[in-house]
Amino acid sequence: EEELKHGWFVGSIDQGTTSSRFLIFNGEGDPVASHQIEFENLYPKSGWHEHEPLELLTSVEECIEGAMRKFTEMGFSKDDIKSIGITNQRETTVVWDSVTGEPLYNAIVWPDTRTKTLVRDLKAREGADSLTELCGLPLSTYPSSVKLRWLLENVEAVAQAYEGGRLAFGTVDSWLIYKLNGGAQAEKPIHVTDSTNASRTMFMNLRTLQYDDKLLKFFDIDRNKAQLPRIVPSSDPECFGKVAKGALAGIRIAGCLGDQSSALVGQCGFSPGHAKNTYGTGCFLLYNVGDEPVISKYGLLATVAYDFGNGRKPTYALEGSIAVAGAGVKFLMNNLAFVDESAKVTELAESVEDNGGVVFVTAFSGLFAPYWIDDAKGTLFGITQHTSKGHIARATLEATCYQTKAILDAMEKDSNHKLSSLAVDGGLSNSDLCMQTQADISGIPVDRPIMRETTALGAAIAAGLATGVWKELDDLRTVNRAGRRIFQPQMPREQADKLFKKWNQAVEMSRGWVRD
Ligand code: G3P
Repeated sequence: EEELKHGWFVGSIDQGTTSSRFLIFNGEGDPVASHQIEFENLYPKSGWHEHEPLELLTSVEECIEGAMRKFTEMGFSKDDIKSIGITNQRETTVVWDSVTGEPLYNAIVWPDTRTKTLVRDLKAREGADSLTELCGLPLSTYPSSVKLRWLLENVEAVAQAYEGGRLAFGTVDSWLIYKLNGGAQAEKPIHVTDSTNASRTMFMNLRTLQYDDKLLKFFDIDRNKAQLPRIVPSSDPECFGKVAKGALAGIRIAGCLGDQSSALVGQCGFSPGHAKNTYGTGCFLLYNVGDEPVISKYGLLATVAYDFGNGRKPTYALEGSIAVAGAGVKFLMNNLAFVDESAKVTELAESVEDNGGVVFVTAFSGLFAPYWIDDAKGTLFGITQHTSKGHIARATLEATCYQTKAILDAMEKDSNHKLSSLAVDGGLSNSDLCMQTQADISGIPVDRPIMRETTALGAAIAAGLATGVWKELDDLRTVNRAGRRIFQPQMPREQADKLFKKWNQAVEMSRGWVRD
């Protein structure tokens, strides 16, 4: 008991699409202090989505200060924290000048579709068909590679830095690790990424976990001109350096995972066949396939689930990525003023019995898995004089559930295995209505933990494994197990199938109606 009290805490930075947080977990995986800050999302043009890299950093630093204040008030100190982990929104692309350490452009955020035309041209290039086999991802607007290509072709400062050999590229993990270590001022600047994040760039070979010259060549990236982060395991006591200043000065960064990988780890999905679905800004289903990657034939991604190093083999996942989940709720709130806080969308949806015939294909960034329709647009179907805000709210929640069902079907075909239940987490999983709808539509039980900070917990586990808080995955058996709620399917199958058929029809009708 005493041992758990002092010296056995692990911190976790969770840098997401709409907010940053810092949480401190004890050795049993329970959060004891946290702080969260929402920052600004910029949509400068239709289809564009940006973050200010320095704002991402300051939001993280303020969260650390805020949570550490609470931790100190509880009678603990920095010395009780063994190490920290970082988890982050994936694919989002940051470029900075390696000499000054300053960003050269805003970060291009993962759902941004400005690269639509570029992607169309790339698809016509020789060799486009063989990329997925190497890196696990289909060519689309989603990965970092096309975002970096766009920056090189459209931003003068980026092109110049590239020609001058000063262009540093990274996903958000690399950027934060670099800056937290002191950036360009550090004695030895640290420029690394872990293999889960690197597996989202389209530059990494999924089997060697190193950059692949064929992939770099396809995207015309010259390694001597662009500085790419060194790829390291997700859990390591040395590679990620130490926090240079502030309330955690001197504390080791020992874990790093893309946020969806981190949620799988936080759900302790360590065995092949384990899966989780995280309803955040987007929604991402990861299915553990073991230590060999499975390249999907049905529109899913192959990705690194986690790579705990220290002689352990990396673990791979099949992933179904949905671009819009919580983002749909935010759209109802910010753009249409249906509600004044996200949590009230469920109440609004509950104000009606059913969707009243409304289907909302929330294709704000085209449609991701398993469809990959770049030119789909958000489209509302079935509006009549009877339609109310409640119907549209319900249709918004249902959109994520239908896409999850389509992903589950694809996963069953790819893996020859039907999931017996679906572990869930993330903001929208707080909505009982949404989770019941998910169980109804997919026809399998939905299993929700009480402690839903699984994304943050995953990175804490990665850091804790590297610094002796936990020695082996087996030590985590009891973490986050207690008090789960199971939503059983209640809707007759025939009715669910009918709804899903209608959704599929709507998906077909949402594509390609505007050519630009
Ligand atoms: O691939 C994008 C993903 O990592 C973002 O996650 O939780 O911000 O929707 P989230």
